[in-house]
Amino acid sequence: MFRSMEDKEKIAIEALKYVENNTTIGLGTGSTANFFIKHLASKIQNEKLDIQVVASSSVSELEANKYGIKLISIDLLNDIDLYVDGADEVTNDLNVLKGRGYDLVKEKLLAQSAKKFIVIADHSKHVSSIGEKYPIPIEVMKNSWRLTKKLLDRIGQGELRKNSAGDAFSISSAGNYIFDYQFKEKDIKKLHEEILTTPGVVETGIFYKITDMALIIKNGEIEVISL
Ligand code: A5P
Repeated sequence: MFRSMEDKEKIAIEALKYVENNTTIGLGTGSTANFFIKHLASKIQNEKLDIQVVASSSVSELEANKYGIKLISIDLLNDIDLYVDGADEVTNDLNVLKGRGYDLVKEKLLAQSAKKFIVIADHSKHVSSIGEKYPIPIEVMKNSWRLTKKLLDRIGQGELRKNSAGDAFSISSAGNYIFDYQFKEKDIKKLHEEILTTPGVVETGIFYKITDMALIIKNGEIEVISL
């Protein structure tokens, strides 16, 4: 456990190498991204950098506030230079699964809009295919979720995600529900398209071909994957 947190912090620090002055940077969500936020705050302060920062979720917003990072709102954003985030799964061909947090749409918007999207992860996230360890998160419109579920049930099996107390359904900051689904389809491009073309689906946790680089760490050893 301790080793793993140490690794997460080390890989987050490694990602600081890609931070440049006078740029806009997006903050990801999760324990590895939290380390990045913490060290980015020190870097901005120590090097007196002029950097605009945008958060991908209410959790990363709170984290940034904790370290005194001033944020700009996503609705004021025209472009973004760098987005750094953790992941739930990452493959050698740089496909990524995200969404254990709830803010799929925001995370993907920032990742896909960024000139550079870097994933930071410990080796437990390094898989040979997407869906190996986790179900696929799918953000859906709340008011019509039953119909969307019926359509998704033609190609897979899943349920609405509950909150951590288990007494209500999880809701994204955009006010949507989240499904967790398992699919037989192993062709990730096809699956990604099939999910996204289902009415009511707002976003999926499959980040297909939008990652520029993954920094993976195992027992202090860093592996860089870039295509
Ligand atoms: C957000 O939706 C998730 O994909 C997180 O980025 C991911 O769960 C982060 O994992 P760690 O807490 O291990 O960084």
